[in-house]
Amino acid sequence: MTRTPVNVTVTGAAGQIGYALLFRIASGHLLGSDVPVKLRLLEIPQGLKAAEGTAMELDDCAFPLLQGIEITDDPNVGFAGANVALLVGARPRTKGMERGDLLAANGSIFGPQGKAINDNAADDIKVLVVGNPANTNALIAQASAPDVPAERFTAMTRLDHNRAISQLSQKTGVAVSEIRRLTIWGNHSATQYPDIFHAEVAGKNAAEVVNDEQWLADTFIPTVAKRGAAIIEARGASSAASAANAAIDHVHTWVNGTADGDWTSMGIVSDGSYGVPEGIISSFPVTTKDGKFEIVQGLEINDFSRARIDASVQELVEERDAVRELGLI
Ligand code: NAD
Ligand code: LMR
Repeated sequence: MTRTPVNVTVTGAAGQIGYALLFRIASGHLLGSDVPVKLRLLEIPQGLKAAEGTAMELDDCAFPLLQGIEITDDPNVGFAGANVALLVGARPRTKGMERGDLLAANGSIFGPQGKAINDNAADDIKVLVVGNPANTNALIAQASAPDVPAERFTAMTRLDHNRAISQLSQKTGVAVSEIRRLTIWGNHSATQYPDIFHAEVAGKNAAEVVNDEQWLADTFIPTVAKRGAAIIEARGASSAASAANAAIDHVHTWVNGTADGDWTSMGIVSDGSYGVPEGIISSFPVTTKDGKFEIVQGLEINDFSRARIDASVQELVEERDAVRELGLI
């Protein structure tokens, strides 16, 4: 193998998402079946031993693409030369806890990590924040990395995107592979807005196929938006394998591009498009090509959608203001 390995850093590597994620990265699902990787596992001191156990298991898989594993609790070491960083490590929401409660608890993790990325990562670093509250954690990390282009910091709404596709597929009886152009707008939280007005189901407009605004408002949107809480309720722990799968999808699409005529959803720094205040990290419909993304422009936003996008964006503005007050950005 002659290709230079890509350095992939995973924080929270000993956690449940980490366990579902690392083996797929090492087997080529993140970047491609011909791309060698070097893994850096960043944990807090209490997580190091479990991370070592996971590294032993990774060794035992004899993955041909895996060219090294390093484990550390030092962010400066963990992000040294990183090309891709998956910021998973955070405190998961537990039963009855809302994301607002998590801001202070998690904010102090993402500032130092953003700074360590700024000071140590490779020039082409791409960052995906998974740890909740993902959008605002991404904002904190981004604000702490002034030398890194802001668009390299993204937050994960791909799980919401995949959930929405699955719900729409079940409603219409059309295969997930036949569903395109779905959008998640706003925050990865219960206020998020899964938008089917521009989506296509087997080539037809999804909203017209469904033709049931009550189902949209009372079933589809809350099912998607509250799916994370429903999983916690059922499993007693937050989603892990589906979250890891979405993280793989997010980075794979970012690096390898969206299919012609389709788009995906990513939490990205707003440029003011669709009335979303500049600078907050909000989910948009994006196309990707050659490792870059662009917001899909020119979509008509009806009143139903406008009210819901505005509500989720308002929550993000409040989260931004809260972390500003805490001195985190
Ligand atoms: P987990 O508790 O199983 O694992 C978290 C790991 O992070 C632990 O091993 C912990 O030691 C580590 N950690 C904590 N602080 C750290 C730090 N400063 N640096 C490095 N590692 C650190 O949690 P999980 O189930 O793997 O979930 C991780 C995060 O992902 C949670 O915040 C959860 O809410 C979030 N999540 C997001 C989505 C999404 O769609 N965006 C979906 C599911 C879960
Ligand atoms: C999810 O969407 O599954 C998670 O973000 C839920 C959570 O709060 O950890």
